[in-house]
Amino acid sequence: MGRYDGRVVAVTGAARGIGFGCAQRFAAEGASVAILDLDEAAAAEAAAKIELVDGAQAVGIGCNVGVADSATAAVERVVAELGGIHVLMNNAGVTRDNLLFKMTEEDWDLVMGVHLKGAFLMTKAAQVHFVAQKYGKVCNVSSISALGNRGQANYSAAKMGIQGFTRTLGIELGPFGINVNAIAPGFIATEMTDATARRLGVDVDEFRKMNADANPVKRVGFPEDIAAAAAFLCSDEASYITGQTLYVDGGITLG
Ligand SMILES: NC(=O)c1ccc[n+]([C@@H]2O[C@H](COP(=O)([O-])OP(=O)(O)OC[C@H]3O[C@@H](n4cnc5c(N)ncnc54)[C@H](O)[C@@H]3O)[C@@H](O)[C@H]2O)c1
Repeated sequence: MGRYDGRVVAVTGAARGIGFGCAQRFAAEGASVAILDLDEAAAAEAAAKIELVDGAQAVGIGCNVGVADSATAAVERVVAELGGIHVLMNNAGVTRDNLLFKMTEEDWDLVMGVHLKGAFLMTKAAQVHFVAQKYGKVCNVSSISALGNRGQANYSAAKMGIQGFTRTLGIELGPFGINVNAIAPGFIATEMTDATARRLGVDVDEFRKMNADANPVKRVGFPEDIAAAAAFLCSDEASYITGQTLYVDGGITLG
């Protein structure tokens, strides 16, 4: 018997990376999962790779979380195709790093639009169902960059915004049986961090080693590390926890 038997979990930006790892973990614990990502074909391909327990299903749905109609339509498709929605993980993300004086308005708007507006639109669409059934779990993805990171004024502002959003929804939605929490990952080895290495002109393995050496536990994180935290925070074992941000970062923010 899994913690997510009979549950439907939707994860945004889950065609790869952290989102895919989380979807796989929820499925391993019994959930039916919806992989939401920009490209429906990539989402469907990822859904086909999910290892399910008997009776569960995985679907891939094309969705731009930052566009209201697309976000709402995606949630409605999850409910129609999987029979409901119990957990929403707002994971979709992009980076457009630059120092402030070089950061364009487009870089600012895109990053805010995907992370912050995307989490707002998706959660607004999902809470209609959560409130009606008096049950729901939201897991937002923040970052250690929320605490400040050179070259990431847009991303840092969005990720700290996610923490305020999480706390506020904890207050507003708690009375309706809905828990809202966030995870702030440190360095997680994914395409996003590999792309950062390439942009900085650093070898990918060297970049991972540098980041491993920088934290107390002396390793980088993997999507499975975030998935383990998400699987706890969205479970009924965590029903007395809401509005919190859990740093899953190998201790890098301890000082
Ligand atoms: N990798 C890290 O070290 C790290 C650290 C802290 C936080 N995070 C956060 O974790 C989340 C996942 O990161 P990742 O490393 O797996 O990144 P990734 O680039 O590997 O995956 C991100 C996914 O989001 C999708 N996406 C982008 N814009 C979208 C949109 N508008 N609508 C729907 N999907 C969209 C992409 O297509 C991609 O599949 C992001 O929110 C990121 O900011 C990552």
